[in-house]
Amino acid sequence: MTEHPAWLPTAAFAALGRRHVTLDAPDLDGTPALVLGSIVGEIEAATSTYGGSLTRGAATTGLHLVLDPDAGLGAEAFMLASTPTVTTVSASDASGLLYGLFEVVRRGEAAFGRDVPASTIAPATSVRMLDHWDNIDVHPVMGQVERGYAGGALWFDDGTLRDDLSRVSRYARLLASIGINHLCINNVNVHHTESTLLTTRLEWVATLADIVRPWGVRTHLAVNFNAPAALGDLPTSDPCDPAVRAWWATTTARVYEAIPDFGGYVVKADSEGQPGPFAYGRTHADGANCLAAALAPFGGLVHWRAFVYNHRQDWRDRRTDRARAAYDHFTPLDGQFADNVVVQVKFGPLDFQVREAISPLLSAMPHTHVGLELQVTQEYTGQQRHVYYLPEQWHEVLDWRPWGGAVTQADVVTGRAPDGLDGGIIAVSNVGTDQFWTGHPLAQANLYGFGRLAWDPTLDPAAILDEWIGLTFPGADPLVGQTLRAMMLGSRAVYESYTAPLGIGFMVNPGVHYGPSVDGYEYSPWGTYHFADRDGIGVDRTRASGSGYTGQYHQPWADVYESLADCPDDLLLFFHHVPYTHVLHSGKTLIQHVYDTHFEGAAAAERMRTDWQRVKGLVDDAVFARVSERLDEQVRCADEWRDQLTTYFWRHSGIPDDQGRPLY
Ligand code: GCU
Repeated sequence: MTEHPAWLPTAAFAALGRRHVTLDAPDLDGTPALVLGSIVGEIEAATSTYGGSLTRGAATTGLHLVLDPDAGLGAEAFMLASTPTVTTVSASDASGLLYGLFEVVRRGEAAFGRDVPASTIAPATSVRMLDHWDNIDVHPVMGQVERGYAGGALWFDDGTLRDDLSRVSRYARLLASIGINHLCINNVNVHHTESTLLTTRLEWVATLADIVRPWGVRTHLAVNFNAPAALGDLPTSDPCDPAVRAWWATTTARVYEAIPDFGGYVVKADSEGQPGPFAYGRTHADGANCLAAALAPFGGLVHWRAFVYNHRQDWRDRRTDRARAAYDHFTPLDGQFADNVVVQVKFGPLDFQVREAISPLLSAMPHTHVGLELQVTQEYTGQQRHVYYLPEQWHEVLDWRPWGGAVTQADVVTGRAPDGLDGGIIAVSNVGTDQFWTGHPLAQANLYGFGRLAWDPTLDPAAILDEWIGLTFPGADPLVGQTLRAMMLGSRAVYESYTAPLGIGFMVNPGVHYGPSVDGYEYSPWGTYHFADRDGIGVDRTRASGSGYTGQYHQPWADVYESLADCPDDLLLFFHHVPYTHVLHSGKTLIQHVYDTHFEGAAAAERMRTDWQRVKGLVDDAVFARVSERLDEQVRCADEWRDQLTTYFWRHSGIPDDQGRPLY
C-alpha cells in the first residue's frame, strides 16, 4: 500500500521548486545544523523536481533565505517580505527558517512576484505539543494505541521498537510543516513495560529523538509516578522522600546524557487508577515539583495533567459532580507549582465531549503555567469513521472569553493575558500506521488544523480548511474544494445533532465510546450521568439547587450559566435539569428539539455521502474509496443514533413527535 503524502504531496512544492533559491546562513553545528539540513533537503527535492536551483549566498531573484542569529527575530519566528522579483524569509534560528520555508510552501505562487511589506510571524506559544497514547505491548483492552483509530503505533510494534522507522521521519516532517515542536511518544497510562522507557529502554527513546530532532521536534516521555518503587527498588515513591527525589535526579540526569534536548515528563497521577501523590498524603504540587526539580537543571518540563476525579463514584451519590473535580483539586495549589511545571487541563471539565462547558480551571490559576489539552484523535467524536472537522470546535474554545471581555482563552494559556503564564497548547494525536495516517483521510485536516491553531489560535477554521485543501489536492477541479467545504464545515454541528443533545454528553457504548447507548454510563462509577426520568433530563449544576459548579466561573458566566433563562441552549442540559416540555430560546420544546435534530442530523450525514459521490474520478481512487467506506459507516451509525435517541426520549416522555416520524 502506498503511503499517502498528507498535505505535503510533491505538487504542493511546485511554486518553490521552480525558483532560484539562495541560502545565506553561517556555519552551524548541533541541532541547528540538522534543522538546516532539513531545509536544504526540502529545497533540493523541490528544485530538482521542478527545475529551480539552490545556491549559497546573497539574494538574486526568486527566494532568498537568511539565517542571521543577530536578526533579533525571536525563537522560532521568521520574517517574510517580497518584491516583484525576490521573496525573502529571514530568521534568527534554524527552526524559524524551517517554519518560514513551509509558510512559503503553504502560500504557493502567492508567495512570489508581488510587493509585500515585511511582517514577522511568530508562534503564539513556545510549546505546541502532540501526545501519543502509544503502548509498547498491545494492551488487552486498549490495543497498541489507546483511543487510536488509525492502525498501529508508528514506532512500537507489539513489544518492540519497529526496525523500520523511516516513517517516523516523514511524520516529524509533517509536524514541522505545521509548527509542532514537542512530541510525547507514549501513553499517559504508563503500564509496566512502558515505564521502562525511562530506564532500561531509554535507548529506544534516544533513537526516536534522533529521528525527530532534524525537524525541530523535542521528545517527551510519559512516566509512571510510582517509578522509584517499581523500577528503582525503593520502598516508596513519596515525592518528599529524599531517596525518591535523588532517584528522579539520577534517572533524569541519565536521560539527558542520552538525549541532551529531552523535553520532559508527562504525568497522569491519581487519575483513573494511576498512582500519584495522594497515596503518600502529598499534594499534586509536591508530586509535580519533585519531578520538576530533577528536570530543571536541564531545562526540561513537567506536563502534569489535571484530569483528576473520582472514577469510582457511587451513581446513587447525587452530591458528587465530576465536572467540579479538577478545579477543586488544583485551584488551591495555584502559586505552588515550580516554574517548569505546566498543569495540563482538558478543554472541558468532563472528557473531550462534542459539547461541554469550557473548563473553568483554564482561567483560574494566574500564578501557574496552565496548558490547554485538546484531542485530535476522535474518541468521542466519531473515531475517524465520521466526518468531524475539529478546528471548528477548538476555535470556540480558543476564542471563548472567560471574563466576558476581550481576553480570550487562548490569550490565557499562551501567557498573553494579564492573568496567565504561557502553558502551551497540547493535543492527543490521531496518527498511526494507516496508509492515510489518520484512518479517515479527511481527519488529516484535524491534525493540520491543530498545528495551525497551536501556532496561531486566532486563525479562522474555514481559512485553515482552505489551506489544507489547497495543499492536499493541488490543482484539483474546483468541485473538490467545494465538496469538501460543504462536507466539513458544519460537520461538528451535524455530529452533535444526531448524538447526545444540548451538552448532556456521553450516551455512548461504555468502554469503546462509539455508537449510541443512552443509559450506557447511567449506573456506572464514572460520574457521567444524564438523570433522565419520565419528566425531564439534565444535570443541575447550579449554586441554587445543584452541585454549585456554576460558581467556578468568573462573571458573567457564573450568572449566565446559573440562570435557566440565560443559559445558552447548546449547554442547557449540561447545567440544568429541565422538563421535556421546556421551551428553548429557539422556541421549540426540548423534546421536539431532540426529535428534529436527530432526524435532520442523520439526513445531513446521508447528504454528505451523496455529496462525496460528485468527486469520483477527481480525487485519488484510494482516497475516494476510503472516504466512501467511512461515509457508509457514518450513515449507518447516525441512523442508529437517531432511532435509539428519539425512541428513548419518546418512551420516557410519552410525548409524540409533532411531525409523526417513525419512533419505535
Ligand atoms: C479518557 C479516555 C482514556 C484516557 C483518559 C485520559 O477517559 O477514555 O482512554 O486514558 O481520557 O485522558 O487520561
